[in-house]
Amino acid sequence: MRRPIIAGNWKMFKTIAETRQFFDALIPALQDVEHCDIVVAPPFTALAAAAEEAEGTRVSISAQDVYWEPQGAFTGEIAVRMLVDAGCAFTIIGHSERRQYFGETDQTVEKKTRAALKGGLDAIVCVGESLEERDGGSAAPVVRRQVQNGLGAFSEAELSHVAIAYEPVWAIGTGRTATPEIAESMHAEIRKTVAEIYGNSAAVAIRILYGGSVKPDNIKSLMDCENIDGALVGGASLEAASFASIIKYR
Ligand code: PGA
Repeated sequence: MRRPIIAGNWKMFKTIAETRQFFDALIPALQDVEHCDIVVAPPFTALAAAAEEAEGTRVSISAQDVYWEPQGAFTGEIAVRMLVDAGCAFTIIGHSERRQYFGETDQTVEKKTRAALKGGLDAIVCVGESLEERDGGSAAPVVRRQVQNGLGAFSEAELSHVAIAYEPVWAIGTGRTATPEIAESMHAEIRKTVAEIYGNSAAVAIRILYGGSVKPDNIKSLMDCENIDGALVGGASLEAASFASIIKYR
């Protein structure tokens, strides 16, 4: 059985003080939660404070992005070892906002994932089609290509440190969630793609999260789907009470 992950992606929200307030409210609400892994991805400036707040709790800290070089003259970038040093266990890679606004490609996703895994971070690698691609009937081939090109050349041991997040771009921040049927069929397609590359045992083991307007009132119907192993939550992860109620979807 795959262990579910509920991850919150804060995007460009929250100062250090706001991060501490969030954890002060979240941690007591999670006393009895044991059924899933919990990940929070604050902005870079709040990572160390978040890691301090989460120490000794069941919450792991994730970055939202990383650069692939170990160090050097790359103004504005952050290396894997800096994230580990700040207390991260995960990093998100290839979020659609990075792909859309900051030139992220399947090739940069591959390089970043390789660097993250080599440096001891687990990776949450995002894939997902745009509205035009969905309307044009190419959602499945687009997502297959993203998986093949971004994640196609690792060892099975490396892949065990990767979770895939399926986030249809048209559902992110729009309030328009993919129906559980649409999400489930894409998750099944992603798992099939992983099976074609790595074989069945890797495909059965890999965790595939859904992201895009996940809220307390739709999480359960998504989590009831066979191939949905968790959620990457944006807007609804910013408030401790709503994030806690998503975590307690059962
Ligand atoms: P949303 O964002 O939940 O606000 O739609 C999800 C994401 O982009 O990870």
